[in-house]
Amino acid sequence: MKYLVTSALPYTNNLPHIGNIAGSHLPADIFQKLLRIFGYDVLFVGGTDEHGSPIEIAAIKEKTTPKELCDKYYVLHKKIYEWLRIDYDNFSRTSNKTNHEMTQYIFNKLYENKYIFEDKIILPYCENDKKFLPDRYVEGTCPYCKYERARGDQCENCGRLLDPKDLINPKCSICGNRPIFKESKHLFIDLRKLEKKLLKWINKNKHWKENVRNFAISWIKEGLKPRSITRDLSWGIKVPLEGYEDKVFYVWFDAPIGYISSTKEYFEKIGKEEEWKNYWLKGSKAKIYHFLGKDNIPFHTIFWPAILMGTKEFNLPYNVVGLEYLNFENRKISKSQNWGVFFEIENDKIFIRIKDKLYEIDSDYIRFYLAYILPENKDTNFFVEEFKEKINKELIGNFGNFTYRVLSFIEKYYSLKIPNAKLNKEDKKILNIFKESKKEIKIFIKNVEIKKVLYKILELSSMANKFFQENEPWKNEKNRDKIIMISANLVKDLAILFWPFITKGSEKIFDLLNYNFKPQNSIKRIGKIELKNHIIKKPEIIFKPLEI
Ligand code: MF3
Ligand code: ZN
Repeated sequence: MKYLVTSALPYTNNLPHIGNIAGSHLPADIFQKLLRIFGYDVLFVGGTDEHGSPIEIAAIKEKTTPKELCDKYYVLHKKIYEWLRIDYDNFSRTSNKTNHEMTQYIFNKLYENKYIFEDKIILPYCENDKKFLPDRYVEGTCPYCKYERARGDQCENCGRLLDPKDLINPKCSICGNRPIFKESKHLFIDLRKLEKKLLKWINKNKHWKENVRNFAISWIKEGLKPRSITRDLSWGIKVPLEGYEDKVFYVWFDAPIGYISSTKEYFEKIGKEEEWKNYWLKGSKAKIYHFLGKDNIPFHTIFWPAILMGTKEFNLPYNVVGLEYLNFENRKISKSQNWGVFFEIENDKIFIRIKDKLYEIDSDYIRFYLAYILPENKDTNFFVEEFKEKINKELIGNFGNFTYRVLSFIEKYYSLKIPNAKLNKEDKKILNIFKESKKEIKIFIKNVEIKKVLYKILELSSMANKFFQENEPWKNEKNRDKIIMISANLVKDLAILFWPFITKGSEKIFDLLNYNFKPQNSIKRIGKIELKNHIIKKPEIIFKPLEI
């Protein structure tokens, strides 16, 4: 069985903040790594989402071209994920050639299968900018509450959904002129024709998280409407149909297709051109997991599967893992209000900005705390004090100290050579507990319950700590060899189990242990004495206390 894990593709008009990391990239990465250590055949793909009006407008505002804007942000995004050890097998771009071709191919299939129709709609048009304006780029007075800076899609003040035509005194948000309203023809995907099939499919997917499934079901039950898949923009993927030369596909049409393109690109790079089909074509039996924030749920549970179904050729997602929001100190994260935790890049170095202060922080600390508070089932909060406490007490106080104590002990008492001792049944107790824990962890993985996995590993780590402490190897000369041999192997086991969470730290421990770690199926090594008569490196402090 093959597994494909994806994380929602971020837009290239901004840098990510911790909410974006906790909402998809990090849980996806931890999950794919957990699958790997449990021996599954996994591929993890992602990329940037580079089309759409937010990109085109951001480019106009920054006085650059969409292409240049995306080139710049693609590099920055990639750098941040690499620094965080979000280990994508391929990190692509929706503007790549492969995605243009794949999008047009899929559109042609939908067209052939009669899921596409044409209709005319009336849209705001700026005669000065010579552009149809996306709803949110028309500003004016809200007809309900009279708020003067309401956007064409929604009034921020009273929250009502609007149509740009409703605004009193509408203005183009690029140049300030009054737009006119003009007719334009567009292509629509007829979701009504797919409604029954979608509902049946979602009903069948009993393994999805309750909130995601219920959300999708209630949406369908309200009745699906056709949705436009073209836009009057110049930046984007061309529509291969006569009369559509001046239009491009709607960004949400080509963005998820980016998952397929990224997979295809990965296999092209390693010379296996046809292999992507074993993930994406119908009947391929690969399990596809999409990780995404809750605002993306309707797109991934309805719109995207509808596109795939309409082709009659492609595989559907196996699980849509929708996460809730991460807030900062009880309030929504906001870049413009400087509220939250952000990434900054200066001279190629990555800093963490908390509110308005810059810090240099170990990326494992960000991973660990975000994993600890992952918004899996409800919105959660990043609290600065709690961040410090969890790092210093849990990660360092628990796992870090255990590791350092054991390694230092081996240095001091055994000149860096892990002893070899014979164990009896009683001695193996803790090793067996470690072995047994695999079953429980496997169930959590099956249910995509990432936090539970972390809490379980922390429990094992406390147990190891207690084992060392209570057996007092500094006094207990008779059993010293046994205690140290067992402890050293527990360090190895914990480093394996923690690897999906704190990848860099675990790899540092493997290095100190002189242990040749290969992630694939490393779960087999848990609870086994593999390190005996074995020389380690001179220990170093692995995790320094977090001071912020
Ligand atoms: N760029 C979108 C967002 O940030 C997510 C796109 S996910 C994909 O909300 F499916 F389109 F790739
Ligand atoms: Zn204008």
